[in-house]
Amino acid sequence: MNDVPGPENSSSPDGGFHMSYEDSCDRVPVLLIHGYPLSNMLWDIQLNDLTDVARMIAPDLRGHGMTDPTEPPYSMGLFADDCAALLDHLGITGPVVVGGLSMGGYVAFEFCRRYPERVAGLILAATRAGADSPETKEARDKAAGVVIAEGTVPIAEGMLPKLLAPDNFKAQPDLVDYVRDMMLETSPDGVVGALSAMRDRPDSTPDLPALDVPALILHGAEDQLIPVAEAEAMAAALPSAKLVIVPGAGHLPNLEQPEIFNDAVREFLEIFYGE
Ligand code: MLT
Repeated sequence: MNDVPGPENSSSPDGGFHMSYEDSCDRVPVLLIHGYPLSNMLWDIQLNDLTDVARMIAPDLRGHGMTDPTEPPYSMGLFADDCAALLDHLGITGPVVVGGLSMGGYVAFEFCRRYPERVAGLILAATRAGADSPETKEARDKAAGVVIAEGTVPIAEGMLPKLLAPDNFKAQPDLVDYVRDMMLETSPDGVVGALSAMRDRPDSTPDLPALDVPALILHGAEDQLIPVAEAEAMAAALPSAKLVIVPGAGHLPNLEQPEIFNDAVREFLEIFYGE
């Protein structure tokens, strides 16, 4: 992250001697929060392609990827506090662009509630503002029961066909394997904890009109898990949002159509946070 090309700087540590260096870290920090039950592998293409416009920070949430699990239940507040603690650890005290995909968006909304002064902008991908319906809450508990009884494999296999657009699921076995591997790295406690956090999250819809920061909303045209209408509703309710519907993508538009996704993010970051 720190060795990517950035603006040229020079310092004079020793009288007339100037040392030239590059550091992308003076660019706007972008916190990218993955969805359920994924990890920061979700953002690999963004981390590779966008470091020249932003300082990209992508944590593994508690119990996901390489981050230690703790005993469930978890909450969106816990995830948001973990993200804030990571920023503290990195010495980032100023505002950042908070990006989240699906459950990552739910965490982003909670981060906005808890740390409004730390939010410079929002990137909301494949997500929704509303809370779970009673039926969805029930399904979360059922899924948690499956994980406790049988582990995470049935959850991963059940979700896989719904995560990608049908054509991508059929034609891109490598992508399917990549997403499966990501899901199977998530610990059972992480999956159960995330399910409880999603089940109990509040409705963020009433918060939207007051989120007066630049926002970019990206949504796959073929998302089978969260309808496009949810993205349209968020775009209408936020004071300053641009909506990009990504063709040929399902629930993971950043992996399914990385060029379209990255171009939109790059343009957004350059317009609002460029030098
Ligand atoms: C996700 O992709 O993070 C989840 O599918 C979101 C959800 O189940 O609400």
